[in-house]
Amino acid sequence: MLTAYDYCTARIMDSAGVDCLLVGDSLGMVMLGYENTLSVTMGDMIHHTKAVARGAKHALVLADMPFMSYQQSVYDAVVNAGRLVKEARAQAVKLEGGAEFCPQIEAIAKASIPVVGHLGLMPQSVNKIGGYRGQCKEYESAKKLVDDAVAVQKAGAVALVLECVPAGLAAFVTKLLKIPTVGIGAGPDCDGQVLVYQDMLSMYGDFRPKFVKAYENIGFNMKQAFLKYITDVKNKAFPSDEHCFSGGAGYDEEVMDKLKSEYGG
Ligand code: KIV
Repeated sequence: MLTAYDYCTARIMDSAGVDCLLVGDSLGMVMLGYENTLSVTMGDMIHHTKAVARGAKHALVLADMPFMSYQQSVYDAVVNAGRLVKEARAQAVKLEGGAEFCPQIEAIAKASIPVVGHLGLMPQSVNKIGGYRGQCKEYESAKKLVDDAVAVQKAGAVALVLECVPAGLAAFVTKLLKIPTVGIGAGPDCDGQVLVYQDMLSMYGDFRPKFVKAYENIGFNMKQAFLKYITDVKNKAFPSDEHCFSGGAGYDEEVMDKLKSEYGG
């Protein structure tokens, strides 16, 4: 699984064989420049999910339910999950939270919408937890995660994302559950892995979380290309003949000569 937020990237990932494209609410940060995911709206999610769905031929399109689209009520959760499927063509939705959101998970699943859980570091709770850091380091919080994982599965979730939890705990939960786990900063023993693509391609900021492997330096390469473009345009090295339309045989004599005789020049 990788995150995707637009048509072009979705097409490339789909053709590479990525199984699942997650339209994460991380788009608030990596696409829209917010400092966290809290300002992401249903409108943002629908807009980006539509684009990804158009680019995905084989991959499953999974859309995040943004902050306050499911927390207030079961009714809101079903209506908003339905919008992501109906209007944006997501095939499944994901929401953050454990036992406290099982009524929402149950109701969405009852509406025949596959729903994925998300435990461990839950970015929509950033103001409660006071920052982005590894979770479940003590027994109590590790036990809560295990209980939440079991509850989320029982409520009908089809998979579970585990974010920033110790590898041993993720392995334990993966063994315990029947549904697949997908890890991000959760070690190698989850059933699947997910990364934010701007992180794996070094396109977002200078800070790289410990759990991210940089597969390419695309951010640097893009900057080099933009610098070359600026230089070429300033030096008139671009566009060259190969990038120009000639207008066809005799154009300069017929059309340009006529224009010059009328307007001068
Ligand atoms: O929003 C997102 O991109 C996510 C992943 C980090 C799992 O939820």
